[in-house]
Amino acid sequence: MSSDASTAKAAPAIPERRYSGIQIALHWVIALVIIGMIPVGLVMTRLDPSTLTNLLYEMHKSFGLIVFGLAVVRIGARFALGVPPLAPNMPHWQIRAARISHAALYVLIILVPLTGWAATSACCAPVNLFWAIPLTLPIGGGFETAGPIFLLHNISTMTLIALVLLHSLAALYHHYGLKDGTLRKMMPGAKR
Ligand code: HEM
Ligand code: HEM
Repeated sequence: MSSDASTAKAAPAIPERRYSGIQIALHWVIALVIIGMIPVGLVMTRLDPSTLTNLLYEMHKSFGLIVFGLAVVRIGARFALGVPPLAPNMPHWQIRAARISHAALYVLIILVPLTGWAATSACCAPVNLFWAIPLTLPIGGGFETAGPIFLLHNISTMTLIALVLLHSLAALYHHYGLKDGTLRKMMPGAKR
């Protein structure tokens, strides 16, 4: 082997500074659907029974199931593709806060729809995707079983709302305050 070949080093790969296209698409689709679903959930439970209420429930359950499916794909993509580094010069506590809150958001986008799905299956089957595809989970026990799971659905939803608010404020602070490119990592078509 020539000394040239043995000493020549490949140029270091430039680290990917943005999330992949699939991660960006999943992030914003899931965020939009969840942000739409929260008011629907709050309104439907406060309306008198009617055709509109039934429609809202069916939409809420179907879009919730879609969030669950997309969240599973998203977590798979996260393990398969990794993530770009956090902004440089972040203090240690912010790095920890970002890691913990991101992990908590992943847990919640699984837990919130899963608890809704499990509770509805227990008390109020069938659960269908847009009236068409039967997806009831094999959970019995009626309202006795469903009650505590619905409580968990409500508590986890409120936790998700609070965390999303914090998360969005942090993203806006990074963008407008620190101007460190954090939001651009998650924007479609943004330059590195
Ligand atoms: C990301 C997904 C979801 C979000 C953000 C969400 C959010 C909510 C919210 C805000 C409420 C109202 C809570 C209240 O009135 O205090 C609610 C209630 C409800 N959700 Fe979900 N939900 C999701 C997924 C699901 C799924 C997948 C199902 C079922 C397949 C479901 C079934 C229900 C039902 C039946 C209620 C009414 C519970 C009751 O009457 O106490 N949800 N949800
Ligand atoms: C329901 C709404 C949302 C959920 C569930 C959510 C969830 C997440 C999660 C889990 C991550 C971590 C990605 C990873 O490291 O694998 C993330 C990153 C990010 N999100 Fe959100 N998000 C939501 C809404 C928003 C909104 C409204 C904004 C902007 C105002 C935003 C901006 C960002 C940014 C900039 C990052 C990248 C942070 C970084 O890597 O430094 N998100 N989001």
